[in-house]
Amino acid sequence: MSAVIETSGLGKSYGAHLAVESLDLEVGRGDVFGLLGPNGAGKTTTIRMLTTLLAPTVGSAHVCGYDIATNAREVRRRIGYVMQTVPYRGLLTGREWVEIEASLYHVPRSDVRRRAEEALEAVGLVVDADRRWTEYSGGMRKRLDLACGLLHSPEVLVLDEPTLGLDVQSRHRVWDYVREQRDRGATILLATNYLDEADRLCNKVAIIDRGVVVVEGSPAELKRAVGADLVQIKTDNAERLRAVVGGEPWIKDIVMADSGNLHLYVEDASLALPAVMRIGLEQGVGLEQMTYSQPTLDDVFLLHTGRELRESENAS
Ligand SMILES: Nc1ncnc2c1ncn2[C@@H]1O[C@H](COP(=O)(O)OP(=O)(O)O)[C@@H](O)[C@H]1O
Ligand SMILES: [Mg+2]
Repeated sequence: MSAVIETSGLGKSYGAHLAVESLDLEVGRGDVFGLLGPNGAGKTTTIRMLTTLLAPTVGSAHVCGYDIATNAREVRRRIGYVMQTVPYRGLLTGREWVEIEASLYHVPRSDVRRRAEEALEAVGLVVDADRRWTEYSGGMRKRLDLACGLLHSPEVLVLDEPTLGLDVQSRHRVWDYVREQRDRGATILLATNYLDEADRLCNKVAIIDRGVVVVEGSPAELKRAVGADLVQIKTDNAERLRAVVGGEPWIKDIVMADSGNLHLYVEDASLALPAVMRIGLEQGVGLEQMTYSQPTLDDVFLLHTGRELRESENAS
């Protein structure tokens, strides 16, 4: 089995309330897989099933080849889980906490010190390690949780909205952490309702809504499906440029804007930009400025659900 996480018709009801209807997900080794959706979409419920904390009502799932229902122990050994809500940790210091958690994760006694230090380092908390948790800022508390998720060097890291409510600087630190964990070979399942976050970090995303996958693919694929990239060109000879690029197969549409700039609607701006430069050079048309914009994952969400992400957050 090549998938690290695989779910089949996975679902959960709380009494009569259907939280996750039926999820089919496949997360490959080394993926940073974004589980994207508005509040109430079922992200946390899904994660709690995958981390064996909650029993599914229907369907099944495997993590690293182990069935979450019948082999919970093996699943837990391989997963590091960082919860959405920061637990209260009281008067102990950051270092004391990671050492306690290392013991809970059955890290051998002789390794606890070193592992704890490595984990603190991974989240940039070494300097503040001996301060009490109560003195920590929100960002530091979150980073301490992220450190705790690493103590048993898990193959799979499950992060539930790790940047929720953090300031910009703390968000960037969390993103660096995700990239470092990916680079050391971890597979990461990242729940978020920030589309820009998924766009930056994930190689694959599944947008879920009301507990079903609405659409999945790489962020680039999903955005491409929405529509065209726009390349805006300021040139000394817009008419001529229009004539010479007009026949290119990768152009969907050309519009001469009121500003005199040429607007090219293309499938993929990253391919169009060098092509336009080449044609400009060959044809002796001077290009003064080129900018491009691509559809965002917001547009993807809107297309597939008919709702804005913000709007649906409020609705639930
Ligand atoms: N313990 C629970 N009891 C009853 N309903 C719940 C419980 N936990 C979550 N829900 C409901 O299940 C749905 C999915 O919630 P959740 O998985 O937390 O979504 P998300 O993490 O995407 O915001 C929501 O409608 C929520 O109100
Ligand atoms: Mg949640």
